Amino acid sequence: MARRLRALSGIKPTGTPHLGNYFGMIQPAIALQDSHDAYYFVADYHALTTGRDPAVLRRASHEITATFLALGLDPSRAVFFRQSDVPEVLELSWHLACVTNMGLLLRAHAYKAAEQESRANELSTGTFFYPVLMAADILAYDSDVVPVGRDQLQHVEMAQDMAGHFNAAYGSKALRRPEPLVRAEVPTIPGTDERKMSKSYGNTIDIFLKDEKAFLKVAKGIKTDSKGVDEPKDPDTSAIYTLYRLVATPAQADEMAAAYRAGGYGYGHAKEALGRAFEAHFGAARDRYYDLLKRPADLEDVLAKGASNARSVARDVLGRVRERVGLQALPK
Ligand code: TRP
Repeated sequence: MARRLRALSGIKPTGTPHLGNYFGMIQPAIALQDSHDAYYFVADYHALTTGRDPAVLRRASHEITATFLALGLDPSRAVFFRQSDVPEVLELSWHLACVTNMGLLLRAHAYKAAEQESRANELSTGTFFYPVLMAADILAYDSDVVPVGRDQLQHVEMAQDMAGHFNAAYGSKALRRPEPLVRAEVPTIPGTDERKMSKSYGNTIDIFLKDEKAFLKVAKGIKTDSKGVDEPKDPDTSAIYTLYRLVATPAQADEMAAAYRAGGYGYGHAKEALGRAFEAHFGAARDRYYDLLKRPADLEDVLAKGASNARSVARDVLGRVRERVGLQALPK
């Protein structure tokens, strides 16, 4: 049988996952477990570039794990693990760093944005190195496709470049070239202020709000223009409609779009429909999520099994790399 393509992605355990994370990465990644050999991980090494609280990091890693399981990740088919349980990626990142010039890293959007906010002298070298570690994550598992949100596209392209540099130096088949997978049909997810949903804007909506009332409350807080109830409205420029279309059925979405255009349908009505649709879409998963969080030992079991699978793949790849560059085989 032909080898299934391998999908790999990671998510940082910093803060509660929000709808931007969900539609950009979590949902498409979980969907791929049916057709792909799926490897997903909690990027806890990466979280250390910004977080300094050990208790928060441990807790957030469990939250991400519970999020994936609650939303349908099946650990009997997909490999789910914690990045730091496979320390081999750190060694691979060194091999990549040694074939990667500063220029490549200086072009990273994320680095440039960080540099806008503080002086380069004061940024941690971990922040600068971030894309190299991410490339190692991807290349350590011979990944074919990397489902990511648009904001991570450049990082995956940098991983392609690093694989190319390594292969140019040490032989064409040393590292597998990955392809990014960004879902074209998913719009930019608007936040509560209608700008792109992003933690740094403080406009996010959590995936697992407590109950329908909580969803209604955030829906009510979404900014709109000042059109009155009677006026016709354009669904395509409305954050409420954009979000609704993602969580409602197609028939419900068409109905809202028609009501917008006809007039006599206010933003207040649309917000109520959105709150209810959020609850219908996420309510059952939310209950599973809180239940899973009460069973940390079960979460650790999933992570341990995932790590053992992932680690054996990464050790094979790293073994190949060590041989190419002229190091001894990995110690047992
Ligand atoms: N940088 C990614 C983010 O912030 C997380 C990540 C780390 C990742 N390693 C990865 C994503 C490897 C895909 C593949 O969302």
